[in-house]
Amino acid sequence: MSFFQEHANEKTILSPLSILVCTGALVLSNSLQAAPFEVLHWWTEPGELQSKQVLVDHLKVNDIEFEDFAIVGGGGDGAIHVLQMRALSGTPPEAAQIKGPDINEWDKLSMLVSIDQLVDTQAWTNFLPEVVIDDVSVDHEYMGVPINIHRVNWLWLNSNIFKRFGLAAPKTWKQFFAVADFIQAKGVKPLSMGGTPWQDALLFESVAISVLGPENYIKAFVHFDNSVINSTKMVEAFKLFKRLHAYTSIAQQGQDWFWASQSFINDQAAMFFMGDWVKGSWTAAGKEALKDYQCVPAPSTEGVFSYNIDSFVLFKKVNTEIELANQKTFVNTLISPEFQIEFSKVKGSIPARQNVDLSGFDACSKQSAQDFDNKVKVPSFTQNMATSSHQQGQIIQLISDYFNSESLTAEEAVQQLSVMVKALTSK
Ligand code: BGC
Repeated sequence: MSFFQEHANEKTILSPLSILVCTGALVLSNSLQAAPFEVLHWWTEPGELQSKQVLVDHLKVNDIEFEDFAIVGGGGDGAIHVLQMRALSGTPPEAAQIKGPDINEWDKLSMLVSIDQLVDTQAWTNFLPEVVIDDVSVDHEYMGVPINIHRVNWLWLNSNIFKRFGLAAPKTWKQFFAVADFIQAKGVKPLSMGGTPWQDALLFESVAISVLGPENYIKAFVHFDNSVINSTKMVEAFKLFKRLHAYTSIAQQGQDWFWASQSFINDQAAMFFMGDWVKGSWTAAGKEALKDYQCVPAPSTEGVFSYNIDSFVLFKKVNTEIELANQKTFVNTLISPEFQIEFSKVKGSIPARQNVDLSGFDACSKQSAQDFDNKVKVPSFTQNMATSSHQQGQIIQLISDYFNSESLTAEEAVQQLSVMVKALTSK
């Protein structure tokens, strides 16, 4: 109903000037309210697009017009570079998908809005787990809004292929190699893999967690402790990782994770290592957890939950009242249980908020929620949870180069990693 319809029966007589002022104010207010709210993200695969739509719809109900700033490239490498350029030229978007220690890096540039100063965040400690709070806070101040939690150390099993050969889920690397060799001997591809550096590193991450154990994994990849980085255990991890290269092919070089996930779900490969955002693409294709695929922890990482938290930061822009109102609405929408539940169901994750109703979630998400509560939690370094993306990018490249090189030995790669980490951490 318009202002005039609403007031049609009122006896108030408005002067032509007051009508002009009123309509002017209304037009101004409407156009400002509808001002697009630009959001940078890298959700461009079918499942991700559907989850993004959940965000768009929830914002729309609250009068925020989502302006899409999508940068293709799983893992977000491309997105971060484009964001840097936009920020340097003084035109950052209203919000961006920034995670982990990168939040701190952006905050150092004084470009981020303090969420604490924007909305009342006091109650957040009642429903957010400690790792999530730490992840989005800088010096105990919320600088990001967390929306969900992905588990990274999953191994996905294709139900048809495992049933056809009567195979059990591998729990150790020894069992994994036995199963993979058996499947290969039957003429079926044992492992689907994408071919970009962060996907190689994602596989290495699970291997490293299993060989080093969670404590030493954290020492190496969060604290850059050289006694763990330059150790025989690390060499062992690199060697085990390299054995997996035998199941990859030249054809996959440069392949995006989505295409690798498709060949797995279409019964062309038996196993797949990936974070559970991949479930979103299978749900979008009508595939079901436990029926079409199984989710098990990556071999020998049963007691560990490698986490990846999606969050958004807000950039300081002109402080108009409308802008502030829109920022508040954005934050309150993202933190609401309604949004987080609906979003995670489609995305394949679990909500960042605890104690929400998970009855409508699939079996893998329910497992994920249970494991998040009970297992040792480690930040995923390949998903920007452990280090800044600048540090992470170089480490990932080294791991990928080693994986795909015919001449670099594990000892040499570990030596290079040790030198690199020293350089990255020297002031
Ligand atoms: C993000 C996920 C996203 C995945 C693949 C991860 O870094 O946290 O939200 O689905 O990359 O694009």
